[in-house]
Amino acid sequence: MKSRLKQLVPLAVRQEIKRQMFKRQDRRDPITAARVPSRAESFIGGGDFEHVGNMFFKTLRRHGLTPDMDVLDVGCGQGRMARPLVEFLGAGTYSGFDIVKSGIDWCKTHYLDVPNFKFDHVPVYNKRYNKSGVVKASEFTFPYKDNQFDMVFLTSVFTHMFAKDVENYLLEIARILRPGGKCLITWFLLNEQSRAAREPFYNFAYDFDNVSKTTTPKSPEAAMAFDEEFVRGLYEKTGLVMQDIELGSWANPNSEFQLQDMIIAKK
Ligand SMILES: C[S@@+](CC[C@H](N)C(=O)[O-])C[C@H]1O[C@@H](n2cnc3c(N)ncnc32)[C@H](O)[C@@H]1O
Repeated sequence: MKSRLKQLVPLAVRQEIKRQMFKRQDRRDPITAARVPSRAESFIGGGDFEHVGNMFFKTLRRHGLTPDMDVLDVGCGQGRMARPLVEFLGAGTYSGFDIVKSGIDWCKTHYLDVPNFKFDHVPVYNKRYNKSGVVKASEFTFPYKDNQFDMVFLTSVFTHMFAKDVENYLLEIARILRPGGKCLITWFLLNEQSRAAREPFYNFAYDFDNVSKTTTPKSPEAAMAFDEEFVRGLYEKTGLVMQDIELGSWANPNSEFQLQDMIIAKK
């Protein structure tokens, strides 16, 4: 029924209907928490904005985040992961960049009073998120110096990108991390467990290329999964040493971790 509706109603119309519904809900039950976008403004996807950010903050702490660190949030969206760091980062700094200008503008406005937080828009192309982008993700140089950060994280970003793009981004992460610095990156990993999953939260049924699959062939950026062996090879190539994999609940019902898989690596 849902997919039949999708076929019949054009995407722009469906999006407008959704926006109007969110606007009505915002009027009825406004979101009042600081630095949380209204439902109509948000483009991040499902889930509770505050809860997801708070949970990820705990993950960062568990992996060694301290208040004096310089951190980078690649694909920071509307600051879902930045929000819980405001009270925490004292001597440290937060930098975030994203390809969606409206999201970065929103963050710039809502973090004006936090001088150690900086948000940058970058003109990288992604069919789902930034059709007017002029730079390929596979060729993009992060606007930061070598060895600038103690910790880099990406949540639900490589899950919207292709193999050549993630390779370049990992090389850039290796460049801008300080020696000993850590990166925490979420993925959908195709491995023994996820292939055997009876009813995964996402069904990666379509080959995109020989190392990745998608749920949506018409719009593969909607959700991308990569062979774990390929991903391991990328980390090796970029000199980032994998320390741990936390298998996410999307294909591992007993997982105590987040929805997506997460790789923790060290430079
Ligand atoms: C599902 S959202 C997640 C946002 C944020 N990381 C969070 O967890 O709230 C995916 C984000 O990835 C960003 N993105 C997609 N391709 C990107 C790229 N090549 N470079 C940086 N960000 C990208 C999108 O603009 C979007 O904000």
